[in-house]
Amino acid sequence: MEKPDLSNAYALSGAEDIRRLYAGWADSYDADFAQGMDYRLPAEVAAAFLRHAPPAGPVLDVGAGTGLLTQALRALGHAGPVDALDLSAEMLARAGTKGLYRALIAADVTKPLPCKGYAGIVSSGTFTHGHVGTEAFGPLLDAALPGALFALSVNQGVWDSLGFGPALAALPVTGLDRAEVAIYGQRAARKDPLHAADRALIVTFRKA
Ligand SMILES: C[S@@+](CC[C@H](N)C(=O)[O-])C[C@H]1O[C@@H](n2cnc3c(N)ncnc32)[C@H](O)[C@@H]1O
Repeated sequence: MEKPDLSNAYALSGAEDIRRLYAGWADSYDADFAQGMDYRLPAEVAAAFLRHAPPAGPVLDVGAGTGLLTQALRALGHAGPVDALDLSAEMLARAGTKGLYRALIAADVTKPLPCKGYAGIVSSGTFTHGHVGTEAFGPLLDAALPGALFALSVNQGVWDSLGFGPALAALPVTGLDRAEVAIYGQRAARKDPLHAADRALIVTFRKA
C-alpha cells in the first residue's frame, strides 16, 4: 500500500481509494501529519465559524477525520452537540476515542445523507484535491436547517478548477463571504516543502 501522505491524498480518485488511504493513515494522522505539518486549518475554520455567530443547535463536522476541527471548536468554548461525518470508519473510530461527538456517521457527503436538522455545518481539509467538490453542496443544504451557518475550507488549488465560485454563487444562501488562510505553520517547511505554503479559502454563508 502507498505511504499515506499529502501527495498520495491529493491524487485519490473515488470513495474506495479514499477509504483505503485513510484506513492506513488514521493511527498516525494526528502525531505525524497534523503535528509535523503544524496544521492550522481546523483552528482557522473553527474560529471563522464562531466569529459569524452560529445559531444554537447541532453542528455537522463534514469529513471530520480524527476530529481536529471539533477539538478546535471545543478549545474555543463551543459546547453544543456536534456530529462527525466521514467516509472512513478508521478515521471516525479515532475521532470517537476523543469524546467530542454526539454521533459518528459513516457516509459519503456527495450522496443523500442519513442525517438532517443541523444549525451549523463545518469542514476543514475535505474540499480539496482528490477528495470532495461542489457536488456535496446539495446534500449538505438538505441536511441544514433554514438559517444554518456554514464554514467550509476549500483548498485554493481546486477553487477555479472545480468551479467553486460559480457553484457557490448559484446556491440558495445569504451572506456569502470568503477569507484566505495558510493551511500549515512554520514547521511544515521542514517536513513537506512541496505543500508547506498551500493556502485555503474559508467560505462562510447561511442557508436561506
Ligand atoms: C484531509 S482529511 C481532513 C480531516 C479533518 N477534517 C482535518 O481537518 O484534520 C479529509 C477527510 O475527508 C474524508 N472524506 C473524503 N471524501 C469524503 C466523502 N466523499 N464523504 C465523507 N468524507 C470524505 C476522508 O475520509 C478524510 O477523513
